Amino acid sequence: MVITPPLRAMKRARISSLATYVPPRVLTNADLERMVDTSDDWIMQRVGIRERHVVDAGVATSDLAREASLKAIARAGLVPADIDFIVVGTTTPDTLFPSTACVLQDMIGATNAWGYDLVAACSGFTYALTTGAQMIASGASKRALVVGADVMSSIIDYTDRTTCVLFGDGAGAVVLEATDDENFGILDFENYVDGSGGPALCMPAGGSRLPASVETIASRQHYVKQEGQTVFKFAVKNMEEVCRRILDRNGIKPHQLDLLVPHQASSRIIKHASEKLGLPPEKVVINIDRFGNTTAGTIPLAMNDAVESGRLKRGDLVLLASVGAGFTVGAVLIRWGLKP
Ligand code: ACO
Repeated sequence: MVITPPLRAMKRARISSLATYVPPRVLTNADLERMVDTSDDWIMQRVGIRERHVVDAGVATSDLAREASLKAIARAGLVPADIDFIVVGTTTPDTLFPSTACVLQDMIGATNAWGYDLVAACSGFTYALTTGAQMIASGASKRALVVGADVMSSIIDYTDRTTCVLFGDGAGAVVLEATDDENFGILDFENYVDGSGGPALCMPAGGSRLPASVETIASRQHYVKQEGQTVFKFAVKNMEEVCRRILDRNGIKPHQLDLLVPHQASSRIIKHASEKLGLPPEKVVINIDRFGNTTAGTIPLAMNDAVESGRLKRGDLVLLASVGAGFTVGAVLIRWGLKP
C-alpha cells in the first residue's frame, strides 16, 4: 500500500542559494586541434563550444562539489551543520563507493546530513533537484543540499575526436528550504526515462557487466562511447517534449516563460528545441561556449550566469530541462525567488 501524506501537509521547496565552481585550467579548441584532427570551425558549428575547464591530475568530483557547496551554504546564511540531506547528481563519482555525497559530507563538515549519489548523466541536476524538493515537500528534510558535479575529463578519450571536444568539468550547488510563500519556489517537475537508448551513449566497462581488466583497458572501454546522431535526434525531440508536457499540465504557454535554462550539450540541440517551442533566443540561456558539456554541472552553471547577467530575476518563471544518457529526460518549473 502506498501511503502519501495529505497534500496540505506538503511544503513547497524554494532555492535559497546557488553557487558554482569550475577548475581554473582551460582547454581551448586550439589546444584540441593539437591533440586530434579537429578544428575550431567544426566544433563551433556543430556544438558551439569555444573552451571548457578541466581539472589537474588528482582533482576529483568532490573537490569541485566542495567549492560550490561551501559557497552555496554560506550564501544561504547557513553553516554546513545546518544541512540535513545531500544529493549529488554525478556520473563521475570519486569512487563507486564510498559515494561522493559521503566524501562531500565529511569534507564540508555537514555532520547532521545523510545522503547519496544519483546517476542520471546529463539529467543529474534536474533529477537531484526533484529528489531534494520532494524531501523538503514531505518534511523529511529542512535544509537540503543539491549538487550537480562532474569531472568528465576522467572518462573522456582524448584520442577520440568525436567525443573529446564536447565535454568539460564543473559543479553547481543549491540549498533548498521550505517556503510558505505561494509566489515562489519549485512548482512542478516532469521526469521520464527511455532505457532502450542506453547503448547510444554509455561507458561500457568498469561496472559489474564488464569489470576492469587488462582487456577492457586495452580496448579503451572505460571511456564515453556515443552514437552522435542518435543522441542528437532524441535530445531535440525530447527536450521539446518534456517542456511541452510540464507547461501543458500547468496551463502555461511557452511564451509565458521568462527563461528556459536547458542542459548544455550542444548549441544546435538547444536552438532546434527552443525554436520548436517558439521561444526567442533572449529567453534561452546558452553558455556552452565557455564550459562545454559538464553533464550534471551545466544547469547550475547556466542558472548562475543568468543570475549574474541579470537575465534571471526574482519573480521570473523559469524552466530547467535536460536530456541525458539512459536516456533520461527531465524538467523542473520554478518561480525564481532569489534576491539579486
Ligand atoms: N572534428 C572534426 N571532424 C569530426 C569531429 C571533430 N571533433 N568529430 C567527428 N568528425 C567527423 C566525423 O568523423 C565525420 O567524418 P566523415 O564524414 O569523414 O566520416 C563527420 O565529422 C560527420 O560526423 P557525424 O557524426 O555525422 O557529425 P554530426 O553532424 O552528427 O555531429 C555531433 C556530431 C556534434 C556529436 C552531433 O551528432 C551531436 O551533437 N550529437 C549529440 C551529442 C551530445 O550532445 N552528446 C552529449 C551527451 S548527451 C546529452 O547531453 C544530450
